[in-house]
Amino acid sequence: MISVEELTFRYKRRGEELFSGLSFSFPSGEMTAIVGPSGAGKSTLLYIVGLMLSPTSGDVLWDGEIVSTLADAERSRLRAARVGFVFQDAALDSTRTVAANVAEGGLYAGVPRSVITRRRRDLLDRFGVMLRDNHRPGEVSGGQAQRVALARAMIKDPDIVLADEPTGNLDEAAADVVMEALAERAAGGAVVIVATHDTRLAGIASRRLELTS
Ligand SMILES: Nc1ncnc2c1ncn2[C@@H]1O[C@H](COP(=O)(O)OP(=O)(O)OP(=O)(O)O)[C@@H](O)[C@H]1O
Ligand SMILES: [Mg+2]
Repeated sequence: MISVEELTFRYKRRGEELFSGLSFSFPSGEMTAIVGPSGAGKSTLLYIVGLMLSPTSGDVLWDGEIVSTLADAERSRLRAARVGFVFQDAALDSTRTVAANVAEGGLYAGVPRSVITRRRRDLLDRFGVMLRDNHRPGEVSGGQAQRVALARAMIKDPDIVLADEPTGNLDEAAADVVMEALAERAAGGAVVIVATHDTRLAGIASRRLELTS
């Protein structure tokens, strides 16, 4: 379970205040959709609950413990161990192959290499991007990169999945596969949070957080 309490955030000291004291919980075993207009703070909220940005005020709790005030190194450790993050623009490492991109987080989280190899194949196959395994990210399409990014997030079997517009570049059939994989993680007990404009994806979430700008 993840929750935020009395959350506000400003990118700059005198910048626009986001979230205006938001308190909300994201239970384990459920998928929550963060919706709202462009610029409302959906991506920012994912970065905050995923411990990549720290609140300006208020707290982030994981399993009832305040984690937003931990030292950087400890937050990084927790994130590496528990969070699978899918960035809005995929954010693959362009210098490495698709295979290496997918494997990396799992290896870093301590999953054995033999398990990683099997899971990597299964995930890329499932998401329909197996043929692209040894390509570089610059050689795959936007929608393919997005599915590779999801495979990368899933490889360590994360109990927290944070996905920013994971179906944004996908056709309906590819989006279905991604939606099913996310729903399956939630059914398996993970905290799944998606930021999305996709009404189909938001429609399968059991909870919804609407941000306003
Ligand atoms: N690095 C940054 N520095 C300063 N302001 C930022 C930064 N990133 C985002 N913002 C601002 O913070 C607000 C929230 O941005 P965010 O990316 O979280 O919105 P979003 O809801 O994800 O939008 P979209 O639907 O377009 O992805 C916007 O006003 C944006 O301009
Ligand atoms: Mg965004």
